This record gives sequence, structure tokens and C-alpha cells, in this order.
Amino acid sequence: MKLTFLSSIVAAFLATSAAAIPLNKRAEMCGQWDTTSAGPYTVYNNLWGEGSATSGSQCTSVNSIDGNVLSWSTSWSWAGGQYNVKSYANAELKFDAVKLSSVSSIPFQWSWSYSGSNIVADVAFDLWTSTANTSDFEIEIMVWLAAIGGAGPIGDSVGTFSYGGYTWNLHKGNNGSNDVYSFVATEQIKSIKSDLLPFFKHLIDSGYISSSQYLRAVQAGTEPFLGSNAKLVTSSYSVSVN
Ligand SMILES: *[C@@H]1O[C@H](CO)[C@@H](O)[C@H](O)[C@H]1NC(C)=O
Ligand SMILES: *[C@@H]1O[C@H](CO)[C@@H](O)[C@H](O)[C@H]1NC(C)=O
Repeated sequence: MKLTFLSSIVAAFLATSAAAIPLNKRAEMCGQWDTTSAGPYTVYNNLWGEGSATSGSQCTSVNSIDGNVLSWSTSWSWAGGQYNVKSYANAELKFDAVKLSSVSSIPFQWSWSYSGSNIVADVAFDLWTSTANTSDFEIEIMVWLAAIGGAGPIGDSVGTFSYGGYTWNLHKGNNGSNDVYSFVATEQIKSIKSDLLPFFKHLIDSGYISSSQYLRAVQAGTEPFLGSNAKLVTSSYSVSVN
């Protein structure tokens, strides 16, 4: 009797979880160029460099959106091509291009955690500017909250920037198609509430970029090189351009 009763509970449980799994699977993006909209953001799986891997895969999903506060996650394993980035799963803000000189603040908050084995990756903003409102993206500004497992940015070190209670190493380089400025935090920052505008101001004050450049894209995500069973969970993220 007891056994039969238990079995029916187990059967009911299995039926329930079997019904729930397909829903989760549908919300997950695993295709190279899959995207989804979530409030003021577009979330990308963006496996642009997967061709340099000998094996691997990556899937991204939105967990929740509440106003402009987003929770999302991306799971991946990548092997081979150790010096090549495989992807940039990210959340991009939808906003109209605006001249840097007209921006008063770019407040953000980001809380994240990474799990997995032998991870080489960054957790970073990718910000783009251009000379005209509608031309191709020209200058890439990255703000790295973490350089994990020896991941490093493009270019040479050209000094440090102290801001928001942290020290950021600034690297300047070119990847063949555009100039890249990368601010790399000297420690891993897993939870932060700050502003992105001072990073642009530092580049303007240093004579690297012009304040007449248009801000075109604000993206936040991770660039994996190598690792297995890796999962980046962004429990809370928001940004706005004012
Ligand atoms: C830039 O172009 C877009 C699209 O045409 C337009 O909506 C926006 O208002 C323009 N922004 C500026 C600052 O000119
Ligand atoms: C380098 O170039 C490509 C364009 O081919 C660009 O999309 C990419 O994000 C660049 N930057 C880095 C840091 O790899």
C-alpha cells in the first residue's frame, strides 16, 4: 500500500517536472545569433567566435525583468583556440544615439557570479562610439569588472584610472578593425553600483577620444576563452543613459 502511494507521488512529481522542463528549454537561446527582448534591453547569445573552438556550446536565458532591472544567465563550455574569444553573450540597452558632450550620467548596477572549471573569461561592458549618429561603430571602450584565469585585454598598458573606489588599468590597442580602450579592474568586482560616464571623461581628458563622438551602444556581458560547465549568473543589472 505504502509503496503504491509513494510511487504515485513520484509519478505525479515526474509528470509535473516533465511538464515544466520544455518551458525552460524554450526560454533558452542556444543558436549562434539568437536574441530576445527584455524590457529596455536586447539580450544576445552572440557566439561570434565559436569557429575558433575545437568543441563547445553556449546557451543564454533571461531569468526575469522588473522595470529596468534584469536578471539573466549564460552557460557554456569551450575548448581549443585558447587565445580567441568565443562569444559575447550580453544585455544591450536600447537607446537613441547621443553625443558624449550631452550625456550627464550613465548610472548602472551589476551583481554577478561565475561558476565552473578552468574558466578563462572576462566580465565586461562593451561600449561603442562613432563620429556620426548613424555611421558604423568606430571606437570600442571596454570596462572589465573581472579578468578571470589570466584573460587579458587588447593592447598596451597606458596608465591607471582611479574611480569609484577601484583602480582600473587602462589598455589601448587596435584589433584590426577598431581602436579598443579597456579599463581592467585590478580586483574582481562582483557587485557594483556606479557610473560609466567618468570612464569616457577620462578618455576625453586624456585626448584619446572626442566629446563630439556619439555614444552608440552599451552592452554588458562575458567574453569566454576557455572553460567547462561555466555559468555566469547576473542576478541584477540595470543601466540608463541620461
Ligand atoms: C540619431 O539617429 C536616430 C535614428 O535616425 C534618431 O532617432 C536620433 O534622434 C538621432 N540622435 C541624434 C542625437 O541626432
Ligand atoms: C574587434 O573587431 C570586431 C570587428 O570585427 C569587433 O566586433 C570586436 O568586438 C572587436 N573587439 C574586441 C575587443 O575583440
